[in-house]
Amino acid sequence: MPQEKDRKTPATPGSAPEADGGGRHEARALTVVGIGASAGGLEACRRLVTLLPVDPTVAFILIQHLDPTHESMMVALLAGHTAMPVRQAGDGMALEGGAIFVIPPGVYLGISDGALRVTAPTARHGARLPFDHLLHALAKACGARAVCVVLSGTGADGAQGLRSVHDAGGLVIAQDPSEAEYDGMPQSAIATGMVDLVLPLAQMPAALAEAARGGTAQRATRPAAAPQDAALAQIIALLRAETRHDFSLYKTGTLLRRLARRMAAADPDADPEADGGMAAYLERLRGDAQERDMLARDLLIHVTSFFRDPEVFEHLAASVAPELIAQTPPDRPLRIWVAGCSTGEEAYSLGMAFFEALATKPEAKVQILASDADPEAIAAAREGLYPEAAVAQLSPARLARFFVREDGGYRVIASLRDAVVFTVHDLLKDPPFSRIDLVSCRNVMIYLGHEAQARAVSLFHFALRPGGVLLLGASETAGPADGRFEPIDKLARLYRRVGRSRAGDVAFLLGDGARAPARLSAGQTPKRQDALGDLCRTALLDAYAPTAVLINRRFECLHFAGPTGRYLRIPSGAPSQDLLAIAPPAQRSRIRAAAQRAFETRALATVTGGTVGEGAGAESFSIEMRPVEVEGEALVLACFVAAPPPAMRASDAAGGPGRIAALERELDITRTELRGAIHTLETASEEQASVHAEALSVSEEYQSTNEELLASKEELQSLNEELTALNGQLQETLERHRTAAADLQNVLYSTDVATLCLDMDLRIRFFTP
Ligand SMILES: C[S@@+](CC[C@H](N)C(=O)[O-])C[C@H]1O[C@@H](n2cnc3c(N)ncnc32)[C@H](O)[C@@H]1O
Repeated sequence: MPQEKDRKTPATPGSAPEADGGGRHEARALTVVGIGASAGGLEACRRLVTLLPVDPTVAFILIQHLDPTHESMMVALLAGHTAMPVRQAGDGMALEGGAIFVIPPGVYLGISDGALRVTAPTARHGARLPFDHLLHALAKACGARAVCVVLSGTGADGAQGLRSVHDAGGLVIAQDPSEAEYDGMPQSAIATGMVDLVLPLAQMPAALAEAARGGTAQRATRPAAAPQDAALAQIIALLRAETRHDFSLYKTGTLLRRLARRMAAADPDADPEADGGMAAYLERLRGDAQERDMLARDLLIHVTSFFRDPEVFEHLAASVAPELIAQTPPDRPLRIWVAGCSTGEEAYSLGMAFFEALATKPEAKVQILASDADPEAIAAAREGLYPEAAVAQLSPARLARFFVREDGGYRVIASLRDAVVFTVHDLLKDPPFSRIDLVSCRNVMIYLGHEAQARAVSLFHFALRPGGVLLLGASETAGPADGRFEPIDKLARLYRRVGRSRAGDVAFLLGDGARAPARLSAGQTPKRQDALGDLCRTALLDAYAPTAVLINRRFECLHFAGPTGRYLRIPSGAPSQDLLAIAPPAQRSRIRAAAQRAFETRALATVTGGTVGEGAGAESFSIEMRPVEVEGEALVLACFVAAPPPAMRASDAAGGPGRIAALERELDITRTELRGAIHTLETASEEQASVHAEALSVSEEYQSTNEELLASKEELQSLNEELTALNGQLQETLERHRTAAADLQNVLYSTDVATLCLDMDLRIRFFTP
């Protein structure tokens, strides 16, 4: 039994026997495939092992979530579907190619020194993640020869461990969620952005064979993902230069997946994973303008439909639309901006919803601006002609009211079409629209990185009127609570614009590639007269204007004019722009109070009684807080005005009327400061209250997440129970089969009739003596 002897030799992950053409065996690294499954996994595993060929260079370790209190039937259930030996893993068992090892119930399985390690789980029952445990160990033991396969299951076991496999240069495969009975585990894996291949079960054997041939090893020789990222960066740069699209701020994971899809569509034989695959495609892109456009379109992702998420539109129609309509004065239309409108379905859906809501106020008008970065999508939207499948989910009433049947589909009626203006517009490059009552930007920000998302949110804040409404997609939020938007309905992703626009909110738009505002256009060279005027103003300011600092509501210094060093001092430590930090300590509370007064009343507020210098060189000054407004943002100019102290008369010194008047003035100032301090305290306490409210809402979110987790745990437990029941049934059936077989055998032996039992290929399966 030489083969058996070979198999019993403890194999290190790193070497496995492989037959070459001459029948000799040479050592080739053992590829170890960790397969993880939970609910619905039994069927997926059964189908997968049926398809897997026997390959002595590949070992499989199967982690199926099992009820720890029952004996597992996995080995028996899988053994009949594969030619490979299926074994229940044991501690110290040698890992060998061409075999399947199944985790026993209630343990963790690891690998070290070429053998399996069985350990007791450290986590409590509900939180056990045996697949994560195996994958960490697998990555450590096998490096680039580790392969992770995530199959059907609820929860997220594997999502942590696959990062180790990915970082070690191994291959990560997830079952196509649309095929998985339970898509929780594959979806969680895909969400990490580290899954190399998303495949149906039928395509996995080929991918595993490729990995065993060295696909993964090749990946390991390069720093994980670095060349892929470098090629992606080059492709993005090429698209930026040659098309009007810049994808540098989009999520890398999404881009890589879409790129792989496009590469496969452009050349079915190309392998995006193979060395040089991306480089070859980059070369093709350089010379093929049509392919560049196709790729850009693919990366933009145009999935859309009429009334996508119907309950959101119902909520909008029931509460937000009537409120916006009531608020809109009769002399202007209600303005809606649909950003990233794709082929127009979302814009027309909003149009239909508002047309219906306007039934009680026919004189009111709605104007919809619908924009998208893709000119082809905009052209289709303008056409307003949709195939039957696209309008299938519309109610018959809406279809009859808003569409007319034509050859080739249904066309939007003229009045609805005329209410929508479609335009090509890049959210991240082009200047925003303004005076909008409702911005709807759904399922666009999910494809953007954090920076681009923050830009988009600033842009919507700028575009909306005060109190305007922002509608986002189901997986999107208006970002951290920084005072721009407050939620109207978190579930429906409806937010209200609060706070004022901030300086710099849309400043990024003036960066490269942006269309700058008209006032900066070429041809407006300043005339000589203007130059002289500027010179004169500068000279006057230098000679007579007081020293001043421009500050915003947060007391941040935005601009210094004149010799501010006389009144302010730079403290040691980290540089600070905070006016209160650089003002003389004695003046801080007065400055704060006066600035707050100026911000609130928008009127001049003065702080008197300041002194700089000592002895004869001492100089009194006052600070005048002048409210100013820049691009809609309220600012204050703090001017330091020198005020020579009035000469003190002898009577004043002795307590005469002059002295009394001075003391009264001082008292007035102190009273004002006190009022300011009280006001500051009140504001601080309001802020505290709002922080508290925010903390409460975060805590609510945690609570709801916790509830969801509890629900999934319950789901898992009930699945576990189902599995246990199934297990029981199977054991019973097996027992019955065994008894029936024994009875049959007894009958055959006792009849004394020579009997031959043959299989379909006429091979003898059984005979009586
Ligand atoms: C998945 S579709 C969403 C369509 C629609 N909003 C919906 O939810 O049904 C995303 C759309 O956003 C557009 N898009 C992506 N990036 C964009 C950008 N920077 N500026 C404008 N539109 C963009 C794409 O062209 C695509 O049509």
